Amino acid sequence: MTQLVGLDVGTTGVKALALSPEGDVLARAEVSYELSTPHPGWAEQDPEDWWRAAEQALAALGGQPTAIGLSGQMHGLVVLDDRDRVLRPAILWNDQRTAAECAEIEERVGLTRLIQLTGNRALTGFTAPKLLWLRRHEPSTYGRVAHVLLPKDYVRLRLTNGEHAIDAADASGTLLFDVARRRWSREMLEALELDPAWLPRALESPEVSGETAAGIPVAAGAGDQAAAALGVGVDRPGPVSVVLGTSGVVFAALPAFAADPQARVHAFCHAVPGGWHAMGVMLSAAGSLRWLRDALGTGSGYDELTAAAREWPPGTEGLTFLPYLTGERTPHADPNARAAFAGLTLRHDRGALARAVLEGVAYGLRDSLELLRELGVDPRAGHVSGGGARRDLWLRIIASVLGLPIQRTATDEGSAYGAALLGGVAAGVFRDVHAAVATCVRTLAPVEPDPQWSAAYERGYRRFRQLYPALRPLEDT
Ligand code: XUL
Repeated sequence: MTQLVGLDVGTTGVKALALSPEGDVLARAEVSYELSTPHPGWAEQDPEDWWRAAEQALAALGGQPTAIGLSGQMHGLVVLDDRDRVLRPAILWNDQRTAAECAEIEERVGLTRLIQLTGNRALTGFTAPKLLWLRRHEPSTYGRVAHVLLPKDYVRLRLTNGEHAIDAADASGTLLFDVARRRWSREMLEALELDPAWLPRALESPEVSGETAAGIPVAAGAGDQAAAALGVGVDRPGPVSVVLGTSGVVFAALPAFAADPQARVHAFCHAVPGGWHAMGVMLSAAGSLRWLRDALGTGSGYDELTAAAREWPPGTEGLTFLPYLTGERTPHADPNARAAFAGLTLRHDRGALARAVLEGVAYGLRDSLELLRELGVDPRAGHVSGGGARRDLWLRIIASVLGLPIQRTATDEGSAYGAALLGGVAAGVFRDVHAAVATCVRTLAPVEPDPQWSAAYERGYRRFRQLYPALRPLEDT
């Protein structure tokens, strides 16, 4: 029986799906792991944890895959020695230690040229500044680097017995990739004095990158955001993909490569050969709700919190949450930004805190959507995936704040689903990515904006917009 397996190496765990060639989910598995923050603003994981979790998740799916597609958290730096041994814990996408290195990169390359070449400015979470950090702060480790990989590509290395490969979508988030030409940028590597021999082969997402020991083809796959977009049917311009994972994303497929001249949103290769996309990324979306659940402690499960949030009116009587728990990327690109609750009164209880978190994340997504609109993106709907997509209240809030119908798909593990589709293309089950999406992705009835909430949310969004500039001076004290 044909089984298309998608493996998503996420921030909280590996998610695995097995699909039929019609796109039905045959099996699913999830194995979680820890994230360590050895210093404020740092975020690290052990690549071996990813591999162990991937092996366990694959075993839990059962059956014999026809093909495997990979997706994963983007931008993370994995450094290996000349025998492919991990040299230090991986530095993740939400790690904020590289502000000085980002300034150095923009100075060395020049901001305009950097944006022309990579579609982006230097952002703390991206891979290249992490390499410069390593060179400066851990020179003996740096001196032993022979290979650089991104998170899902480390799992590929282990899965295939030694393939060093990446896809164009994930490579776009390194700041070392010529996004328009879809190949490593010699100019960037020279400017930053980095060895091109460290980098893996760059493939298009549906290409075969290698085989497992059992001869199963492994597709190049994609960074989790491009994979999630495929998983919810955003393979060409039209609806936007909205992701409520640890991070929160609004993602638009573009008709051609187009970088925002100020790079306020990212311009990356899409997982469709010859396709590009733009996206805004907030660092703590469902991550904010997870934080609230953990901070409130026992008795505060997600269901209980959202039920309590439902008791509050839109706008939560003026309580506003700024979701910058790990700094922010879009729209502020500020590693030192911090989260806040503003407007508390004696009346506010845990349900109010929860509602304010759901709303604050929705406002953050609206910031990204507004920037995409400035690039000419004019979506009629958002297709949502990620753990947060299971919460109806959150979708209704997001629909009302964005002013867009929000549609779930039959499966909310968007990235793993998209990865499985890429596996299917690699194995020849589908003609191309568009055929895979057309055959498999099924959207459900939309959650419409609530007209009775719109006015409260316009006011709430204006309040939200004022909060970061008002708090910004505190960062310097
Ligand atoms: C995308 C990004 C995050 C991670 C989360 O640019 O940094 O969405 O990919 O897994």
